[in-house]
Amino acid sequence: MSPHIAAITYCKQTFKIILIVILIFVNNLFVYGAEKFREPITPVIPFNNLNKDKVSLGKKLFHDPKLSSDGTVSCAKCHNLETNGVDLLPVSFGINGEKGNRNSPTIINAALQYRFFWDGRAKTAEEQITDPIENPIEMGSSWQHILLYLGSNNEYISSFNQVYGVNPDRNLVIDAIAEFQKSLISYNSPFDQYLKGDENAISPEAKEGYALFKSYGCSQCHQGMNVGGNMFEKIGVIRPYYGKDNPAKLTDLGRYNLTGNKEDMYEFRVPSLRLVVKTPPYFHDGSISTLNEAIQLMGKHQLGRDIKDDHVNKIIQFLATLEGQLESGK
Ligand code: HEC
Ligand code: HEC
Repeated sequence: MSPHIAAITYCKQTFKIILIVILIFVNNLFVYGAEKFREPITPVIPFNNLNKDKVSLGKKLFHDPKLSSDGTVSCAKCHNLETNGVDLLPVSFGINGEKGNRNSPTIINAALQYRFFWDGRAKTAEEQITDPIENPIEMGSSWQHILLYLGSNNEYISSFNQVYGVNPDRNLVIDAIAEFQKSLISYNSPFDQYLKGDENAISPEAKEGYALFKSYGCSQCHQGMNVGGNMFEKIGVIRPYYGKDNPAKLTDLGRYNLTGNKEDMYEFRVPSLRLVVKTPPYFHDGSISTLNEAIQLMGKHQLGRDIKDDHVNKIIQFLATLEGQLESGK
């Protein structure tokens, strides 16, 4: 090989290596960039074009205790809008003071859930609304009772005719309540503003809290628009939650109650954390009274980590930025 050709080959080799190094660098820039912008939480998008008349009819039905069998319990008793859509009790009480076995989740942002209830047993508005109506320890009522009542009430007859052009029926009651639920969306929270680029929308401590929320792994489960509510997970993934010191209530084995599969035991829908700061007590049975304790338990049982107080406080500061303003009847 002449020295001339050898020099050209050498140059080509060097050029190739430099090109590859540049390509890897550019590729990494893209990967890093994409990672940076792919956040596990996305801003809340409220429902558009809601029908105002349906919303106000739904609101009236939601607040009417006469839908229950003894005329004492409305949906709002357990989902009180004055207190962020919850009753602030460990478990709820229905007709005749009957004690339930689960904590009432907030009705705010509930329309964003992909399945309803702690065990996700309802998929549609029809199932979700019929459940509390017929549940003997909630409203203990029936569609027959409700339609008899609405059909003999002139105010309702005229509202249904105004909104739907016909007399009250089961599907329309469901439609109106479902439309009202869609109007109860907490949106444009400080955190969502931050996600959209307003660096000053949340405090430095809240930003640190968010970084911790991601680095501990909370966002593997609590994620998406509602910061939860889009998957089922066991309570006690890493360290068992129920055991000798903490016996499970035999009536509540989570999704196992529906499926009968052993692997679904103690599995619940991951709850939304959008309003969590305002909706104590915590967990499906309302057994945990403070957010501080709930987060420590999450660290221990879901992630196998002990979370320092300082970190817990920063995570709480982050969680407090998730609540937005209420979109009512847009
Ligand atoms: C006696 C108290 C009580 C009453 C009355 C009641 N609820 Fe509930 N609600 C609950 C409880 C407790 C749960 C959780 C039940 C479960 O997970 O098994 C729940 C769950 C829900 C959910 C699911 C939320 C989610 O995040 O999955 C919606 C929506 C809801 N209720 C709407 C209503 C409507 C509409 C009415 C009236 C027709 C109503 N509730 C009446 C206590 C009540
Ligand atoms: C493996 C999934 C998973 C991980 C990881 C996880 N959680 Fe949870 N989280 C759940 C489930 C499931 C529940 C419901 C437990 C129950 O009710 O029994 C829950 C409940 C909660 C609650 C109570 C909400 C309420 O309304 O009752 C809070 C607060 C919470 N998690 C915060 C966190 C924080 C903070 C982290 C990180 C340190 C975290 N979680 C990590 C699955 C997870």
